[in-house]
Amino acid sequence: MADYETHEYDVLVIGAGGAGLRAAIEASAAGVRVGLICKSLLGKAHTVMAEGGIAAALANVDERDNWKVHFADTMRGGQYVNQWRMAELHAKEAPDRVRELEAWGAVFDRTKDGKILQRNFGGHKYPRLAHVGDRTGLEMIRTLQDHGVHRGIDVHMEHTVLAILKEGDRAVGAFGYERERGRFKIFRAKAIVLATGGIGRAYKITSNSWEYTGDGHSLAYDAGAELIDMEFIQFHPTGMVWPPSVMGILVTEGVRGEGGILTNKEGRRFMFDEIPENYRSQTADNPEEGWRYCQGDKNARRPPELLTRDHIARCIVREIKEGRGSPHGGVFLDIAWIKEKLPDATEHIKRKLPSMYHQFKQLADIDITEQPMEVGPTTHYIMGGVHVDPDTQMSRVPGLFAAGECAAGINGANRLGGNSLSDLLVFGKRAGEFAAGYARDNSFGKVDTDKIDTVAKEALAPFDRGGGENPYEIQKDLQELMQDNVGIVRTESEMQHAREQLQKLKERAGRVGVTGHREFNPGWHTALDLKNLLSVSEAITHAAIERKESRGAQFREDYPNKEERFAKVNTMISKAEDGSMQVRLAPLPEMPEYLQRVIEENR
Ligand code: FUM
Repeated sequence: MADYETHEYDVLVIGAGGAGLRAAIEASAAGVRVGLICKSLLGKAHTVMAEGGIAAALANVDERDNWKVHFADTMRGGQYVNQWRMAELHAKEAPDRVRELEAWGAVFDRTKDGKILQRNFGGHKYPRLAHVGDRTGLEMIRTLQDHGVHRGIDVHMEHTVLAILKEGDRAVGAFGYERERGRFKIFRAKAIVLATGGIGRAYKITSNSWEYTGDGHSLAYDAGAELIDMEFIQFHPTGMVWPPSVMGILVTEGVRGEGGILTNKEGRRFMFDEIPENYRSQTADNPEEGWRYCQGDKNARRPPELLTRDHIARCIVREIKEGRGSPHGGVFLDIAWIKEKLPDATEHIKRKLPSMYHQFKQLADIDITEQPMEVGPTTHYIMGGVHVDPDTQMSRVPGLFAAGECAAGINGANRLGGNSLSDLLVFGKRAGEFAAGYARDNSFGKVDTDKIDTVAKEALAPFDRGGGENPYEIQKDLQELMQDNVGIVRTESEMQHAREQLQKLKERAGRVGVTGHREFNPGWHTALDLKNLLSVSEAITHAAIERKESRGAQFREDYPNKEERFAKVNTMISKAEDGSMQVRLAPLPEMPEYLQRVIEENR
């Protein structure tokens, strides 16, 4: 084996968004030595795309809120295929994690009496999202970063991990490369936390930036962990649709939380057309009541624009398909209309939604205080990911933990907006704590040099294939395939087609070639990302074919209803001995009676 630069840590955290930073802080506070790997620069994370707030039942704006209501909302939003224990821990612990963030310096918006202000978001019964204008994720990353850098955590920026190293069953390290100089490195670790975020780059239209290629999902899968619920992809209803260069950039749900309405080209608020049965009693049936809700009237019901994301995205697709869309293939999102209601509406919009104001002004030449925005669904988040123990966050691979978007279970079939930020605080902390405990109880393992040689050889192979397949073309074809065939509305035949084409793309990826050398070479990086993108795309497609029903974010035109036989199962993906992808249905853990009562009481 070549002589590679080697680092040793008790706990290695891969991924430096909110979950990774929170895990690193906790592990370091437990007194162990921590290394943190970021794919790009520290602070550049998809966490900042959770703009509108952190969901936590602080009850600062509505005293009726508490963990039980938050738990029930999360389970209803996830259509009851969530891992109940994760949803319980999340609802109970989120308020403390938010208060802790405040103590670490996060500057939240305030109520008149000085408490953390909370706003409305889809599927949350009460105003529950602690926020900093529409820059909550950014403030969270800033705070965690500030707090973390003083803890003596070793940060490795612009590094990509190519494989988890194992001794027997146990994870004992990672092998990767430094993107700038293209040099391989070994990271030996007693415990590893994956916190690499999502898979958005498997789709053409996405709010995710280039880093989100399903690395943690794929690393865990290759290392022997199971992936759960991969069929459930969240298409956020409101991404920018125009101009084409910014298509997919997020338009926060906070716009609707502040009273923004969705209209079609006829000017109709189409969200009133189809209110789902399970939300009927909580949803206003007239605009006036919806507005009163946004103004804090506790007797009013929420406007239908604050239904769950899966439902709204489908309604938008229907409007567009049936010819009632906006000129650039979206629908209208209008916050300017609140001028009819508020004398200081312009200032209010700029104060509550400063990033949205600048985003539209600078990127689309639209003044959102005067004109409606054009928006459409964008791939935002995956509910599926590494199957972990709910309390410790360890996967079935000893020593391999996961947290945040790359782990799964809390959200079930659909995530409520704002639950991701609280998820990554709650479970980032838990992962860090239990990984540190595991590291204390175990010594360093032996790294497998043959494995390192194989991975290094495979990673360099594209350089030997000048004139081979172009990595960007394969990536583009993959994104189009997934967008068109495993998107918001799915059918068996389209997904079978996707499955066949994915095999062809895999073959093409095996022939990928790059030119130049190893020093910052984006073509090579793209070629290396393909493996992960293809693995997660295959997992999504397999799982979506297996779940022959519509539930939450999975809508199948050929099975348009929820089916009893899928009501209490999760899809599980794992790698077989022969390297093939296996899918199975696993029964959900039985929910204890006290939680069933909580759900009943909060129907
Ligand atoms: O719309 C948003 O601000 C996104 C929030 C989230 O995904 O949690």
